[in-house]
Amino acid sequence: MHDETLLDRIVGIVGPNGVVREADKSAYESDWRGAYNGVARFVVRPANTAEVSQVVTLCSEAGIAIVPQGGNTGLCGGAVPDDSASQIVLSLTRMNRVRAVDPDNDTITVEAGVILKHLQDLAEEAGRFFPLSLGAEGSCTIGGNLATNAGGTAVLRYGNMRELTLGIEAVLPDGTVWHGLRALRKDNTGYDLKQLFIGAEGTLGVITAAVLRMFPRPKSIATAWVALSETSAAIRLIRRIQSLCGDRLTGFELMSAQSVEFVTRHLPGCKNPLEHAAPWYALIELSDTQTEARLGDLLEEGLAGAFDAGDVQDAVVANSETQVEALWALREGISEAQNHEGPSLKHDISIAVSQIPAFIEKADARLNALLPKVRLVTYGHVGDGNLHYNVSKPVDVTAEAFKEHASAITDAIYEVTASFDGSISAEHGIGIAKREAAKRHKDPIELGIMRALKNTLDPKGLMNPGKML
Ligand code: FAD
Ligand code: MLT
Ligand code: ZN
Repeated sequence: MHDETLLDRIVGIVGPNGVVREADKSAYESDWRGAYNGVARFVVRPANTAEVSQVVTLCSEAGIAIVPQGGNTGLCGGAVPDDSASQIVLSLTRMNRVRAVDPDNDTITVEAGVILKHLQDLAEEAGRFFPLSLGAEGSCTIGGNLATNAGGTAVLRYGNMRELTLGIEAVLPDGTVWHGLRALRKDNTGYDLKQLFIGAEGTLGVITAAVLRMFPRPKSIATAWVALSETSAAIRLIRRIQSLCGDRLTGFELMSAQSVEFVTRHLPGCKNPLEHAAPWYALIELSDTQTEARLGDLLEEGLAGAFDAGDVQDAVVANSETQVEALWALREGISEAQNHEGPSLKHDISIAVSQIPAFIEKADARLNALLPKVRLVTYGHVGDGNLHYNVSKPVDVTAEAFKEHASAITDAIYEVTASFDGSISAEHGIGIAKREAAKRHKDPIELGIMRALKNTLDPKGLMNPGKML
C-alpha cells in the first residue's frame, strides 16, 4: 500500500491528532539510552481500543508490522522500530483513562497508556496502594510494565507485574479484541491466558487495558542505609531482618561502592550519608499498615544484632521524609549516573539469593581477567535475587575499544549466570538486546513452545517482529 493511501486510511481511523507529525517522530524511534535507533513508517496514537483494533486489522490485511510502544523507557530495545522505515510504531500513550476503581475488591482497571506514577496516585486517592515501583515510574506505562513483566524495588514483598494483575484486554494480531478484564482472584477455567501477554514484549498482541490488584496503604515506613564489607553479609542481613519483621521487609537493595560513587559524582545533591566509604551498601525499607508499628525500633534492633555479628560496618536510619527521599535518590540515580561515564553494558540477571556472593566473586574475576580496570557497577534488587551487573568502560580505554570487548564481556557474564542456573533476564526482558543470547541460554524445548505460540497467534509475524524470538 502506498504511503499516502495508508496514511489516509489511518487518519480515517484515529483522526489527524492520532498520527505524530514527521518532525516529531524521532522521540519514538530511539530508546531511553540512545542505544537502539530505527525509522518508523508512521507513529500512530489511537485513543481507544476500537481504534487500536481497526489499525491492527488494517496492518494485518496490508502486511504491515507493528511495534507497540508505551513510555519508551524499556532497556532492551523492544519498543524501537527497525531501520527499514516499514514498521508502524503504535503508541498507547493517549489511552490513559481509568475504567473502574473498586476498593472493596481491591482492584483498579486502567488503560495501557496510564503512567505508573499516576496509577500509584490514583490508588492513594482511593485509600489504597499500588506497589510496583521503579526508577522510570514517572514515564513508563502500565502497558509497558505488563509487556515486560516489570519488577522494581518492592518485588520482595508484593511480587512483579504478573502477580499484580487479575485481568487483561488485548488486541490480537488479526485485530480481534480479547475482553479478558476479569477482576477474579480465582478462575480455574483453563489456561491462564493473561500470563501469555504479560512479559510477551508486544510479540503476541497489543495490551489495551488491565485489572490490577491494590493493597492496604502502608502507614509507617522505616528506611536505612547500611555499609557492608562483603556481599555475604547482605544475604545474612536480609534473613536477619526478615526473621524480625516478616513481610514488613518491603525492599532490600544492594549497591557496590562504584555504583554509589558514580551517583555522588554526577547527580547534584546526592551524598553518601556515612562518613567512611565501604565496599558495599544496602538500602533497606520496612513498611506496615499500622501507624504505631515501631518499625524504626525494629530496624535498629536488627542492625544492632548485625553490627555485633560483624555483618554491618555502619548504618543510618532515616529520620525524615526528606532523608528517605535522599537515600532512594542515591539508589534510583545509578542508571542515570552511569550514562555520564560513557558506554556501558547492562546485564539484568537473576539467580538464587543464596548464590549471589559466589556469583559476584566468579563474575568479577572473569571480567577483571578479560579487561583489567573494567568498572563493575553491580547493584540491584538483591532481596529477590535480581542483580544489575552493569559494566562501564575502564577510564583509559576508548569507547570504540570497549565496544570490541562487549560481546566477550556479556558472554562471560551469561556463562557465569548459567553456571549458577540463573536467568539472563530478571525483569527487563529480551527485546533486541538479549535475543541472540536467549537462543543460546534458554531451554530449546521452552523456545520451541514459545515459537509455536507465536505462530499460532501471529501467523503473519507482524507483531513486534525481530524482538524476543
Ligand atoms: P516501553 O519501553 O514503551 O516498551 C517496552 C516493551 O513493551 C516493548 O517490547 C514494547 O513493544 C512493549 N509494549 C509497550 N506497551 C505495550 C502494550 N500496550 N501492549 C503490548 N506491548 C507493549 N524495569 C524494571 O522492571 N525494574 C526496574 O527497576 C526498572 N528501573 C528502570 C530505571 C530506569 C531509570 C529506566 C530508564 C528503566 C527502568 N526499567 C526498569 C525498565 C523500564 O522502565 C520497564 O521495562 C518498563 O516496564 C517499560 O515500560 P514502558 O511503558 O516504558 O514500555
Ligand atoms: C534499576 O533497577 O535501576 C534498573 O532496572 C537497572 C538499570 O537501569 O540497569
Ligand atoms: Zn531494576
